[in-house]
Amino acid sequence: MEDKAIIEKIIRSSNASIEEIVQLLEGDEKLLFESADKLRSKYCGEEVHLRAIIEFSNHCRCDCQYCGLQRLNEKIKRYRMSPNEIVQNVKEAHDAGYKTVVLQSGEDSYYTREIISDIIRDIKKIGDIAITLSVGERDYEDYAQWKKDGADRFLLKHETADPNIYDMLHPHSSFERRLQCLRWLKELGYQTGSGFMIGLPGQSLETIAMDILLLSELDVEMAGIGPFIPHPDTGLNHENTGSSLLTLKAVAITRLMLKRPHLPTTTALEVSTGTNAFCAGANVIMRKVEPHRYRRLYEIYPKPEGSEKTILEERREVVDYIKSFGRVVSDSRGDAIEIKK
Ligand code: 5AD
Repeated sequence: MEDKAIIEKIIRSSNASIEEIVQLLEGDEKLLFESADKLRSKYCGEEVHLRAIIEFSNHCRCDCQYCGLQRLNEKIKRYRMSPNEIVQNVKEAHDAGYKTVVLQSGEDSYYTREIISDIIRDIKKIGDIAITLSVGERDYEDYAQWKKDGADRFLLKHETADPNIYDMLHPHSSFERRLQCLRWLKELGYQTGSGFMIGLPGQSLETIAMDILLLSELDVEMAGIGPFIPHPDTGLNHENTGSSLLTLKAVAITRLMLKRPHLPTTTALEVSTGTNAFCAGANVIMRKVEPHRYRRLYEIYPKPEGSEKTILEERREVVDYIKSFGRVVSDSRGDAIEIKK
């Protein structure tokens, strides 16, 4: 089949074989991006959602081989924000106009179920601000309690859909456990986000096709797809950075297959090539809002030093950036988009 016929089939059926996805990943991007952009417009409109992210702790119990926060990295200075500091930070983000806050950290057991619960309840008192948690694998009871407390969304990327690569890169956990957590989150009614990296060692185009099919099977409401960027203090320091073109193609195919999910243009894509995925189906962008002294230390992958601007100044910059290519900034919370079946 020609690429055009495959694209039309995916749009019609929301389904594809591994071979068909691989063909699109190998093919020319022009029609693929145009088709994804049209679908983005149809299902999500011209609005881009801005999310404030607070990276509140870089302590981590995990040994993810690609990540600069891995437990064994002794070079990194570790920090934790206090619950009060986190809530104050959310207030600042809300005052600056953000309608969603993403609370992200390494897997840090210092923040017990009760501590996170208190943070969620305090944030709910600030106003109508959606809470997305991104704190990794926890017990079912933790996820259940936080949902009751008022958390709206949860991000937990599957990172790679190849169980062998997954288990090799995550010696502390397993692919099975990851999927279990994702299924719990869906079952509990979270707007659930997953995602994966492009360019992990051992990954093939077939793996990327499996990644996209897994997003479809999980029926995620959000999906973050970004290039792998080698970190000098990890065992993967000599690997290559993932391809930005492949990243964009994966975003576009995800839009064709799943239609409705919120797709961020990931920070890793911005950092690695200065490009964004808004032309390929993306409709979301995140901005860090924690104090600059912490941002510098949250080094999952190497990134340029940011300037010391305020949350409001940085928000204005990203608003202008979005307007510069003819899109508008949403003033809604940007909850999950439902499609009537
Ligand atoms: N390069 C790119 N992305 C990375 N992540 C972790 N380490 C790296 C890296 N070296 C991504 C993972 C994780 C998210 C917080 O950051 O997908 O889920």
